[in-house]
Amino acid sequence: MKRSPARPTSVDAPHFHGRRKGRRLRPGRQALVDGFLPRLRIELPQEEGCLEPRALFDRPVRDVWLEVGFGAGEHFVSQVEAHRDVGFIGCEPFMNGVAAALSEVKVRQLDNVRIVDDDARPVLAALEDASVGRVFVLFSDPWPKSRHNERRFIGSSTVDALARILKDGGQLCFASDHMGYVRWALEHVTADGRWSWTARQPAYWRCRPDDWFPTRYEAKARARGAACVYLRFERKSRIDGGSSERKSLVCSGTRVI
Ligand SMILES: C[S@@+](CC[C@H](N)C(=O)[O-])C[C@H]1O[C@@H](n2cnc3c(N)ncnc32)[C@H](O)[C@@H]1O
Repeated sequence: MKRSPARPTSVDAPHFHGRRKGRRLRPGRQALVDGFLPRLRIELPQEEGCLEPRALFDRPVRDVWLEVGFGAGEHFVSQVEAHRDVGFIGCEPFMNGVAAALSEVKVRQLDNVRIVDDDARPVLAALEDASVGRVFVLFSDPWPKSRHNERRFIGSSTVDALARILKDGGQLCFASDHMGYVRWALEHVTADGRWSWTARQPAYWRCRPDDWFPTRYEAKARARGAACVYLRFERKSRIDGGSSERKSLVCSGTRVI
């Protein structure tokens, strides 16, 4: 694995506010956690910015994609199966969700997957610059009370880390049914200057893109009649600039949404 010098972390030692455990796992699921998960789990290196993700897979992969908070893994496992030539890293601290995803990975005999059963932020900090092609953050916890907004996964430090690890032209895929979080994500990402929002017309954010799969939280939102918004941002080229300019896009974005 290629090593690079230690860098100061872009994400300060994070405190995870979510749930790690739910109901006691059934014996079959517990056996997967005890016996199968250790084979897929990534141990993060001590140094930051030195994890070359393609080296995590037993065979060559053309790219590496990451999903943050995959829940029970519906979208994650479908992507893994649909793109067998891509290596996937899934991060999810809620062990019941991890166990459900492990079960599908095993049944579908998928070998292009690695799991971090923990907070995704140290994973972002560990990854090499420009080493990931796509990151999904789907129906991430909205933390609706204003005093909790800073707990949202999308924030200036994670947007900074994502801009560092994504390749030029790489994608950040975000979905939510919470309009406060949608505006927040638009504001944080577009304020960073290294991203383009790919939407050209309302259908771009009102309909789930064809190459994303449904998730459990999306289904719950739709069942109660909530609208879902899908945002796809592209990491600008490092050569053509895209380092610090602020975009006015967010203003039109928040107005239309
Ligand atoms: C509302 S659920 C959505 C799950 C799934 N994406 C879906 O749409 O069904 C949000 C998930 O993100 C996970 N999560 C929250 N903070 C996280 C973090 N810092 N790193 C990784 N996952 C996180 C939670 O454990 C939870 O399973």
